[in-house]
Amino acid sequence: MENKINVVSTLSTIMLLFLSVVEVRSGALDVVAKFGAKADEKTDLSKPLSDAWKEACASATTSSIVIPKGVYFLSQATLEGPCKAPIELQVQGTIKAPTDPKAFKEPKWIEFNKVENFKMSGGGVFDGQGTRAYKREGCDKKDFCSALPINIRFDYLTNAMIQDITTRDSKQFHVNILGCKNITLQKFSVRAPKDSPNTDGIHIGRSDGVNIIDSDIRTGDDCISIGDGTKHLDVKGVTCGPGHGISIGSLGKFENEEPVEGITASKCTLSDTTNGVRIKTWAGEYGGTVSDVHFEDITVKNVSCPVIVDQKYCPSNKCKMNAESNVKLSNISFKNIRGTAALPEVVKIICSGKFPCENVELADIDIKYSGPKGPGVSECKNVKPKITGKQNPPACAAPVPPNPTPTV
Ligand SMILES: *[C@@H]1O[C@H](CO)[C@@H](O)[C@H](O)[C@H]1NC(C)=O
Ligand SMILES: *[C@@H]1O[C@H](CO)[C@@H](O)[C@H](O)[C@H]1NC(C)=O
Ligand SMILES: *[C@@H]1O[C@H](CO)[C@@H](O)[C@H](O)[C@H]1NC(C)=O
Repeated sequence: MENKINVVSTLSTIMLLFLSVVEVRSGALDVVAKFGAKADEKTDLSKPLSDAWKEACASATTSSIVIPKGVYFLSQATLEGPCKAPIELQVQGTIKAPTDPKAFKEPKWIEFNKVENFKMSGGGVFDGQGTRAYKREGCDKKDFCSALPINIRFDYLTNAMIQDITTRDSKQFHVNILGCKNITLQKFSVRAPKDSPNTDGIHIGRSDGVNIIDSDIRTGDDCISIGDGTKHLDVKGVTCGPGHGISIGSLGKFENEEPVEGITASKCTLSDTTNGVRIKTWAGEYGGTVSDVHFEDITVKNVSCPVIVDQKYCPSNKCKMNAESNVKLSNISFKNIRGTAALPEVVKIICSGKFPCENVELADIDIKYSGPKGPGVSECKNVKPKITGKQNPPACAAPVPPNPTPTV
């Protein structure tokens, strides 16, 4: 009898323990239920979200914050660490930014800063509502044009995983990754009109170990732009277009830029973009290095400049066009790049006369141009690439015009 009672009470103790564990696990910090957020498109999500973040950040065990389905308005948010334990942010709803570009004091809308072991997922949308900003109203007075907000900033994160998130119509760059270590963006989407200015999809700088996987980027500027100090970047299974392609640079505009090294882009498809895969450095200006860059298994569909190294980058003639770039490029390969071009200059490898490109490889390039200005051509300068496999157009066979066409 006593034994039986003991068994029952032990069982109920176990049940209680089990229930409380379940409760802790499912005890997500719901911004609506617990912090007073309203999915009414006008109540500012800023305070509920930062209150939830503060609680999560102070928790000694992993916590998760939920923004449930619905449409929210968010003026601005800075979500900072260091935090005591990992944080997971589930964004299920759509979050909208102020439409007025002047509503922002700093060029950012949502910033995650100095967080370790951060996860964000949930299928949600960050809508920057950039349509008005794209018109550049009042820009002649320079009152806000230089400070347009970036939709999402990931600053100084370590071990972050961003999955199944969309950013839409950012007023400026969609995502800026700075000073991060080991961050993955997977099933990430970017949506902005083809003619939206300066709306780069994902910009990366001074970060080590960035992975962009199975993502889809459609925007008005570079799909992925890679700035100085980017190391060990892996771009895989990304579709891009419209947009300006996958681009390293521009580099050499500023003093003391850090090396770019260990960049791989593979199994990507670019459609109707102005560039395919590109490295650009300013004519003249400052020094720097780019090494160990590999573009492999790339499909291009109606891309204006599919393969391009441009060391004479000089937009709006803001430099000495005749000067040679001081950025040194080495160990670069373009392998298995196939598809169609929208313009005849299919392959263009224009390196610096002062620091010629070293150890460049062109392998299996098969890109058709069949427009009225045909046939497609391949131009090379200050580079002696190793050439293997099929080459259509014939590698480096065309003379380089004295003033190469500027790129965007
Ligand atoms: C990188 O971050 C992920 C979390 O996103 C983590 O699972 C993984 O262990 C980290 N890798 C290293 C080498 O720390
Ligand atoms: C190819 O790209 C050009 C320029 O971007 C565009 O005008 C044209 O419509 C595209 N052609 C096709 C067949 O999509
Ligand atoms: C280029 O590759 C060669 C051979 O793999 C290597 O020895 C050299 O250090 C590399 N150069 C740079 C700048 O990474």
